[in-house]
Amino acid sequence: MRLMAALSTNMLTVNMLLSVFFLPGALPACPEDSDLFITAPRNMKALSGSCLQIPCNFSAKVAEAFNGSRTTFGVWMKRDHKFKTYPKDVIFNSSQAVNPYPMKITGNLNEKNCTTLFYNLTTTYTNRYFFRVENEQFRKTAICYPLQITVTDSPPSPTIEISGELKEKESVTITCSAFTPCPHSPPKLTWNLQQDAHNKIEENTDRTFTTKIQKTITLSDKQDGYTITCSSIYSVNEGQNVKSTEEKVTLNVSCHGKLADVYIIVKAVGIVMLVSTVVIFEWWIRTRHSTKPVKDSAENGCRVFELSS
Ligand SMILES: *[C@@H]1O[C@H](CO)[C@@H](O)[C@H](O)[C@H]1NC(C)=O
Ligand SMILES: *[C@@H]1O[C@H](CO)[C@@H](O)[C@H](O)[C@H]1NC(C)=O
Ligand SMILES: *[C@@H]1O[C@H](CO)[C@@H](O)[C@H](O)[C@H]1NC(C)=O
Ligand SMILES: *[C@@H]1O[C@H](CO)[C@@H](O)[C@H](O)[C@H]1NC(C)=O
Ligand SMILES: *[C@@H]1O[C@H](CO)[C@@H](O)[C@H](O)[C@H]1NC(C)=O
Ligand SMILES: *[C@@H]1O[C@H](CO)[C@@H](O)[C@H](O)[C@H]1NC(C)=O
Repeated sequence: MRLMAALSTNMLTVNMLLSVFFLPGALPACPEDSDLFITAPRNMKALSGSCLQIPCNFSAKVAEAFNGSRTTFGVWMKRDHKFKTYPKDVIFNSSQAVNPYPMKITGNLNEKNCTTLFYNLTTTYTNRYFFRVENEQFRKTAICYPLQITVTDSPPSPTIEISGELKEKESVTITCSAFTPCPHSPPKLTWNLQQDAHNKIEENTDRTFTTKIQKTITLSDKQDGYTITCSSIYSVNEGQNVKSTEEKVTLNVSCHGKLADVYIIVKAVGIVMLVSTVVIFEWWIRTRHSTKPVKDSAENGCRVFELSS
């Protein structure tokens, strides 16, 4: 009887767990439920009128299921991966000559490279995107790897970084970096340091890009309060317009040389004075105690005290 009760309680628990995990229409268990894995950024920012390069590569959960010798198509869906229910969410299919969204897979799909160029961007393209590969019978969507793309009308400000301590005579490296969603049309960086600094385009570890200018300077007190202004100019709408933004940083150069030396001297003199006062005081106490007997002091110095009290 007790055994039966225990069993039925256990079955109830199992049933509850099953209903929690296998609810119809529940979210997929990730990444276990995905038959296709992709490596791409989770979030990407882009600029309207410009393009976005999405670095992407994929692999099948069962490696042999994908055969690079077969004809391969790449598909991008927006919002939801259930394209049978929402066919309008299929916004790009590389098998089609004309697609709803201006995209192009520039990577070689047969080499598992799904790198995609998304161009002529507008803010309405801000959405979540899913990638799907169609390799004859192997047709799978990376349901666990949505990519959030946010398209804005104005670019974010560049960032100014200063490496090293802002002290006089110190050499510091100043770097201005700007986000570069479209490496085919990178921003142009300019600043009020020296204009001969070359724009460099660097690849980040997630295979996105950053445009930079850099300068190493030796600080002097003349630079204290100097404001560095760095501007990034983006060419948009096929070069018909530009969008620019800037960042400012004020240098606070501490005059290490002069002030610190004065401080050290004042501190040293202070310590010498304190130590000598203690030594003199101690010597004074000792001489009073050792050379004058208690009686004497009672007869001389202390009598006054006793009288006056
Ligand atoms: C994508 O390529 C990188 C570098 O080769 C690799 O480490 C990663 O596992 C690949 N991603 C997938 C999903 O296969
Ligand atoms: C891959 O596909 C090609 C062309 O269909 C076929 O000849 C080859 O045997 C396949 N390779 C594997 C490992 O299945
Ligand atoms: C992509 O296009 C191919 C060829 O027209 C088609 O068979 C496939 O169903 C399409 N994929 C999706 C997800 O619509
Ligand atoms: C993938 O394709 C892109 C665009 O064509 C290319 O720049 C990149 O080097 C390729 N990646 C690999 C790992 O081949
Ligand atoms: C992108 O926009 C430009 C300018 O509006 C237009 O000339 C070009 O054809 C567009 N490209 C695509 C592929 O839509
Ligand atoms: C310099 O000082 C100003 C005012 O105190 C401050 O706003 C600014 O952030 C400082 N700059 C740096 C680079 O620390």
